[in-house]
Amino acid sequence: MPIPQYILALDQGTTSSRAILFDRKGHIVAQAQKEFTQIFPKPGWVEHDPLEIWSTQAGVAAEATVKAGKNGKSIAALGITNQRETVVVWNRKTGKPIYNAIVWQDRRTAEYCDQLRAEGHEELIRQKTGLVLDAYFSASKVRWILDNVRGARKKAEAGQLALGTIDSWLIWNFTQGELHVTDVTNASRTMLLNIHSLQWDEELLRLFDIPASMLPQVRESSEVYGETKTTVFASKIPIAGIAGDQQAALFGQLCTRPGMVKNTYGTGCFMLMTIGPEAKVSRNNLLTTVAWQLNGQVQYALEGSIFMAGAVVQWLRDNLGIINTSAEVEKLAKQVRDTGGVYFVPAFAGLGAPYWDPYARGTIFGMSRATTAAHIARAAIESIAFQTMDVLKAMEADAGLTIAELRVDGGASANQLLMQFQADVLHTQVVRPRITETTALGAAYLAGLAVGYWQSVDELEHLGQADTTFSPKAKPASIAVHTANWQRAVRALQAWSE
Ligand code: G3P
Repeated sequence: MPIPQYILALDQGTTSSRAILFDRKGHIVAQAQKEFTQIFPKPGWVEHDPLEIWSTQAGVAAEATVKAGKNGKSIAALGITNQRETVVVWNRKTGKPIYNAIVWQDRRTAEYCDQLRAEGHEELIRQKTGLVLDAYFSASKVRWILDNVRGARKKAEAGQLALGTIDSWLIWNFTQGELHVTDVTNASRTMLLNIHSLQWDEELLRLFDIPASMLPQVRESSEVYGETKTTVFASKIPIAGIAGDQQAALFGQLCTRPGMVKNTYGTGCFMLMTIGPEAKVSRNNLLTTVAWQLNGQVQYALEGSIFMAGAVVQWLRDNLGIINTSAEVEKLAKQVRDTGGVYFVPAFAGLGAPYWDPYARGTIFGMSRATTAAHIARAAIESIAFQTMDVLKAMEADAGLTIAELRVDGGASANQLLMQFQADVLHTQVVRPRITETTALGAAYLAGLAVGYWQSVDELEHLGQADTTFSPKAKPASIAVHTANWQRAVRALQAWSE
């Protein structure tokens, strides 16, 4: 028998299913990716076909393995990471979903959440789950399925239906219905988990009218849950790691000590700070969430999301037409030395953390006859860094500490100008790892630790990932003026939208 040489990480994201094979040094050996259909039945509704999620994920898992010239016998363990909050309800007997997966972006239950707020449930939810009462999370979506799919509630009450976030759904399929599990990080995004006891909460289940029999078992983020039973790999592989994608990225970045922060620059930004073994509820409009549970030890994190990051660059490309590809934004912005007094607050979909203003809309301030496309491009890039700074300040205030460095990943972290400006406005080091696939890497680490492929977090820290560090270069006084102007722009925009 060959000694298993690799860990296979499956990254089931919002727009694509990916699989990456890592070796013992944490290097990528092979990868495969497949996009799948986004379903928009009505404005504000977003769904995925759970069977397409499963088939694309199984497909890329096999493809990456074959690309490496290997088979299941070469894989020591499987780690799963996934888009969070998105939820599936399926029939336990047939394994068939009773409705499409309702995606985290879906707003159909916003009014129901308003109703819960009006009934005064917000504080209870916040204290128990660390979350803000919002349609983003899974609970109200499950309730919608039970209330709107014919016969669903009756079947659920008879114990015939199962619910799960995407990790649960994939593992159910990989084990042909043998395992119905999730991990603490995914469970903490459902709005049904008490994040202090790490148990499903009966009071919340009653509030959302969800039968407890539908729920998966909650497990740690790194342990052997079971083995694959599908024909995808020919041989059985231990399934040994699960984490929601943002938590997996936090672990992949090895932000293992309190005060360590990562920011993923995607369409939006997801910033998470590890805060330790105690679930402190935020006083600055951030979420408190489970970061991971490893060897019985739980770590919590604060989380803040920014709605418009890479999306601002897409807007410059698709709506203004001042660049042809997203990568061109850096070259355009570099044509000018500064923004010439222009400030761009891209609140196209309201403002996320720490403002939470759904009615705010985007504005560009300070334009003159001398303003060019380059100034606007530069202001757009700077807006990503300023929004990140706002969330980070809220995190520092909550945690009562000053962060030493920001670890970054995601597509826009390749933008040198953005990273340098980020270091300047935060007046702290910005560290970009060599492998920016930190989400998949985190899932691989969690799985590898569970099967002894890697022995400890210490060992992971010594894998020697070469990083690029951006150190602050700008004069603090000029940054202070710049920051004050940004804050003035946000206040003006909020006053306008009131
Ligand atoms: O909370 C939603 C988040 O997990 C989605 O991440 O990378 O699939 O957009 P991503």
